[in-house]
Amino acid sequence: MSLPVIKPQNLSEKQTEMMRLIAEIMEIRKRGEQPLAYIRTYGCQQNVADSEKIKGMLEVSGFSFTDTPDDADFILFNTCAVREHAEDRVFGNVGALKNLKRRHPQILIALCGCMMEQKHIADRIYSSFPFVGLVFGTHSLHHFPELLYRALVDGRRVFERGNDDQMLYEGFPVHRDGAFKGWLPIMYGCNNFCTYCIVPYVRGRERSREKDVILKEARQMIESGCKDITLLGQNVNSYGKTLETPLSFARLLQEIDEIGGDYWLRFMTSHPKDCSKELIDTIACGTHISKHLHLPFQSGSDRILKAMNRHYDRKKYLETIAYAKEKIEGLSLTSDIIVGFPGETYEDFKETLSLIREVEFTSLFTFIFSPRKGTPAEKFDDPVSAEEKGKWFQELLEVQEEIAAKRCASMVGQQERVLIEGVKEKTGELNARTSGNIIVELQGDRSLVGSFQNVKITKARNWILKGELI
Ligand code: SAH
Ligand code: SF4
Ligand code: F3S
Repeated sequence: MSLPVIKPQNLSEKQTEMMRLIAEIMEIRKRGEQPLAYIRTYGCQQNVADSEKIKGMLEVSGFSFTDTPDDADFILFNTCAVREHAEDRVFGNVGALKNLKRRHPQILIALCGCMMEQKHIADRIYSSFPFVGLVFGTHSLHHFPELLYRALVDGRRVFERGNDDQMLYEGFPVHRDGAFKGWLPIMYGCNNFCTYCIVPYVRGRERSREKDVILKEARQMIESGCKDITLLGQNVNSYGKTLETPLSFARLLQEIDEIGGDYWLRFMTSHPKDCSKELIDTIACGTHISKHLHLPFQSGSDRILKAMNRHYDRKKYLETIAYAKEKIEGLSLTSDIIVGFPGETYEDFKETLSLIREVEFTSLFTFIFSPRKGTPAEKFDDPVSAEEKGKWFQELLEVQEEIAAKRCASMVGQQERVLIEGVKEKTGELNARTSGNIIVELQGDRSLVGSFQNVKITKARNWILKGELI
């Protein structure tokens, strides 16, 4: 099924002009000293990728970056709305900025991202946090320079929530945080409306970037030394449906795989309802594609999957997993799970436990259901107490720990290619990751950070492996 075609638009000349004007103003205000921005990102990699665009625009506007809020001229929190806990953290940390603003009244404090697309949140910020001078949502990224300019010059508070959720913008300058690990968005938004999820409301409708733009960016990343590229989308399997010439995700993956060079290619997230055999075959045959599939199943109970509006059942999910295990040698599987969805009984929960025992995931991202304002599940009857849900959650963690430990133990003695990602401050050991996304710690020189190495796995401690260089 294809969707209405969405043609991209470029960042306008007006925004470029605004960035030039901001640079001029800040040069005068700072008397030639470079202005500094402090950016803090909450939530998923989509937000990380958005922050890299915001940083790109700030860089063109003359800013450099600091890790110390006290040194900053501009502070921005890019927020996440996916669970209540995520929102509470933001409110707590914004509240803590009140004193900083008192000490440095010239600082501009701003909030953006998914939380800010919700009217009740923006209203609360407006009334309870008067020291916040700029607020904008995910649909306003393409005129961030203009908003920043207004907030800097007018001296009035600027609040903007967009409704441009069917538009797609290109041509952003991007400041990539990682030297050898990079995020590459291939699509934005989501059309799935899982009943618990706020994402479609704060990120808008699904829209895919054009293949040539993605390939160009991937090439640039590889040429500049990126070793680990993650393609991003809320449901990458649905890629290509808003393009003039629709294209499957598997085809896109093949084309990026064919660029050539020394890199790993990953993607997030796949929705089980459209995880095709074509995609699994592509992973199996790929040269650079990680043997890793993150396939969130959320619940093992068909009754709950239906209430979640997930459009697959346990049987279909397990068939997909069986096909993937058969085709992809050394496959590592990960997933997301929600515990305590409204109406879930202990019997339903036991189906989730039996599914994780059957599949044997490498690792899991587990969440207790959090009601989100405006989603259907917010209104569902939810008779199970928080305490009871907490017990189920604990039980899930224990079962998964046992599975992960067993899986990791089975890798001892094997040889693995890993990407060295950093140095552990406490022990001085190197931190690395396998293609299947499993952490390996080993002794070695810090000059190896950013390179691929072959290691022998010597020990397993729960879900972390110990290894040595070969
Ligand atoms: N698009 C991705 C997931 C994005 S949100 C996908 O479909 O897989 C990441 C995870 O957060 C989800 O997979 C889900 O497990 C969890 N999540 C989303 N909304 C939630 C809520 N209201 N309460 C608890 N967990 C939630
Ligand atoms: Fe949320 Fe479902 Fe869309 Fe994922 S697929 S972002 S869980 S609505
Ligand atoms: Fe959070 Fe928005 Fe991502 S709600 S999980 S940052 S898409």
